[in-house]
Amino acid sequence: MKMLLANAEAWPGFDTTVAQLKDGGAGLDAMVAGIAKVEREAKVRSVGYGGWPNMLGEMEFDAGVMDGTTRDVGAVGAVPATLPVSALALEVMRNLPHVMLTGAGARRFATERGFAIDETLHPDSKRVWWERLQKEMSPEQLAAFPDIALAPLSNAITDPERVRDTTVFLGRDASDGIGVVTSTSGWAWKYPGRLGDSPIVGAGFYADSRYGAAACTHTGEMTMRCGTSRSIVLALRLGHSLGDAVKLAVEELGELTTGFLAGVVIHAMDAKGNHKVVSFRCEEEIRYWYWDERMAAPELRIADKA
Ligand code: GLY
Repeated sequence: MKMLLANAEAWPGFDTTVAQLKDGGAGLDAMVAGIAKVEREAKVRSVGYGGWPNMLGEMEFDAGVMDGTTRDVGAVGAVPATLPVSALALEVMRNLPHVMLTGAGARRFATERGFAIDETLHPDSKRVWWERLQKEMSPEQLAAFPDIALAPLSNAITDPERVRDTTVFLGRDASDGIGVVTSTSGWAWKYPGRLGDSPIVGAGFYADSRYGAAACTHTGEMTMRCGTSRSIVLALRLGHSLGDAVKLAVEELGELTTGFLAGVVIHAMDAKGNHKVVSFRCEEEIRYWYWDERMAAPELRIADKA
């Protein structure tokens, strides 16, 4: 059964992917076509052009793709000046012997593959970043910026108003291939070079067409420590139900007591046609998009709370 699951911010591209899946399109191509629209939509304030810069006011994007039939993976991290980075992650998967490229190397490869050098800092993101940063700095720091130690600012500018969000698409295509695609601009005001979980296979995403797929949004610092997406798919392989597999992953997140702890949202599907979206430690109501081929149109649904 053809299926598509994505987080609420997927609205600019969800229908594009559904249409391509309906036409028999390959899952990863259909999902990258959809998520590319999300990345270019300025109203989505967590991903791509609408996202938030790092502490230096520079955009750095992360993305990952996984083909659950071959277990091929492509990922890019901390990539400057490039949209859509999900498409660049697919290029890594298809054209290199590597799984992940970061920073300047990823940008170099983007140029080789014909990606333009994009202006990726939205004027409103620049304004909010600078207003916020100014408030956190002493007059001496402000005068010397950016030639100052940034680490002392990194806790102070953990900004609860700017979500550590991601867009994730999990899909099953006409050949029963399950795949996953992720994209994010990462944590607002992050330390330069910080990678979230979105490009880290096993943490932010994992797919195996025989069992299912999982992908996470929000606090990558937690799912990287737990290998959350891989835990869920491994639990499915070991015979757990989808509900129990997600419960196990939530328990592991709950066992963390040190480091940066905040909300996580898990999106998961199994190869039997079930899906589950669970929010853990998120105060706000979490919604997600779901479609399968029995439905006339995609639906925006409410996630369970762990
Ligand atoms: N899950 C997105 C991030 O941590 O950057």
